Amino acid sequence: MLTVPKDYNLTTFKQIDSTNDAAKRMVKSGDLARKALILAEEQTSGYGQRGRVWESLKGNLHLSIVLETAKPLQKLQELVFLTAVTVSDYIEKQLSQSLDVKLNVKLKWPNDVLINSKKVAGILLETIKHQEKQYVIIGIGVNLAHTPSVSDQVVTSLKEIGDIEITPEEFLSGFISQFNTEYDNWQQNNHFDVIRSMWQQRAYNLSKQVMIYDGTQNISGVFCGIDQRGAIILELSNGERTAIDYGKLL
Ligand code: BTN
Repeated sequence: MLTVPKDYNLTTFKQIDSTNDAAKRMVKSGDLARKALILAEEQTSGYGQRGRVWESLKGNLHLSIVLETAKPLQKLQELVFLTAVTVSDYIEKQLSQSLDVKLNVKLKWPNDVLINSKKVAGILLETIKHQEKQYVIIGIGVNLAHTPSVSDQVVTSLKEIGDIEITPEEFLSGFISQFNTEYDNWQQNNHFDVIRSMWQQRAYNLSKQVMIYDGTQNISGVFCGIDQRGAIILELSNGERTAIDYGKLL
């Protein structure tokens, strides 16, 4: 059974182009609650970071959380980290209930959730304004039943990794209450420090030599953590530290 906190308005689709695109249309039509959830069994044009195709097969989670918020745009990026922490917490709980061995759930900067170095979930944050109101759309894709084929990424699913059978409805019901608690705290108290430290505890390749593609060049350095804005901090070979706001950890 699908249960969500009562302040959320839930819309479900059997098939839709993309739950994030559906969210934008619903915002523009003006009849969206302050907190809304859009869940689709299948997406025909699901997309991820940098416009990449997000293969969206029935059995996986395709969810958009839509929130009206007046926070400044630069703070909204923090919600990627908040979402990654709550999604990974929930996945870790599922794994520990089903498996004897403890598997590492890691967070790859900025928006991926990994199990044993393989991508199991991705987050895509978009914003939209309509008639003085600002909304953030948090798109979440979790590979539950199927492992999609992605050319340049190693991916997995909960089914593949631990034979865990969890439906999108169960995942949403289990994950959304913790998300909502964290979101309300963030909205009221601006507590990015707590989220930041929880995110860093799970950070993939922390303290290791990494390479970031920032859109124009590759930058390598030791991954020292994320700063107050969520930018990745690298220590370069000359000992200087640099913070990179946007890019891809290679
Ligand atoms: C990424 O890792 O690149 C982010 C993937 C985000 C996929 C989700 S599925 C639900 C929502 N609708 C979309 O079209 N994309 C996001």
